[in-house]
Amino acid sequence: MTIGSQKDVEALQEIGRIVAFTLNEMKRQAVAGMTTKELDELGGRILHRHGAQSSPMKSFQFPGHTCISVNDEVAHGIPGSRVLQPGDLINIDVCAEKDGYVADTGHSFQLAPYSEPVLRLCHHTHQTMMKVIGSLRHGVKINEIGKIIQQEAKRGGYSVISDLCSHGVGRAVHEWPQIPPVYNKHDPRTLKAGLVVTIEPFLSTGADYVVEQADGWTLRTPDRSFAAQHEHTIIITKDKPIILTVA
Ligand code: CO
Ligand code: CO
Repeated sequence: MTIGSQKDVEALQEIGRIVAFTLNEMKRQAVAGMTTKELDELGGRILHRHGAQSSPMKSFQFPGHTCISVNDEVAHGIPGSRVLQPGDLINIDVCAEKDGYVADTGHSFQLAPYSEPVLRLCHHTHQTMMKVIGSLRHGVKINEIGKIIQQEAKRGGYSVISDLCSHGVGRAVHEWPQIPPVYNKHDPRTLKAGLVVTIEPFLSTGADYVVEQADGWTLRTPDRSFAAQHEHTIIITKDKPIILTVA
């Protein structure tokens, strides 16, 4: 969506805070021995308490309030009976709506005991997201986003998962524009002030694409390599973007 009023900004900031708070609490309370369903139900209760509803559940009948993807699962992991293990790499993605406004956020982290390669992957992916966000403003070409993600992945020795895109958001989960994570020199589109988008690079230690599992949702790397994702929802302005998904 494109911002039309101050009310739009305030409503998006509210749902942005709610999804960020929900994700932070889920991360804080995630421990080995817990099932991903228990963790998801915690997230669902927090969303509900704040008057928000899971967008994937409402819009796509996704079987969970949040997506929880573990180790070689990259995205859209279904919460279930899987028991979290020490050292697991976990991605939580929370996308929810309130009063017709939608915000989307994601975060990858490791449960203790920590390992240097996994921490580095998470940290580098977060830095990549922040570097992209810091470079965006009205008039910047959309293909700059893929260019920076590819440059940062290369610098860290990682692959870009090329089939998972950033996207417009604000009134629905996936809106125009779709933003590929790889550079396309033929893409003439530019960012306009007021546009609401996610920035969500996925970097991996191996494969550069994902495969869908038999459950119809979970996306996994074909070579079982690990991937990390970080995601913020932002508003493009004539200056630095406004980051909505902060608690
Ligand atoms: Co998301
Ligand atoms: Co998203």
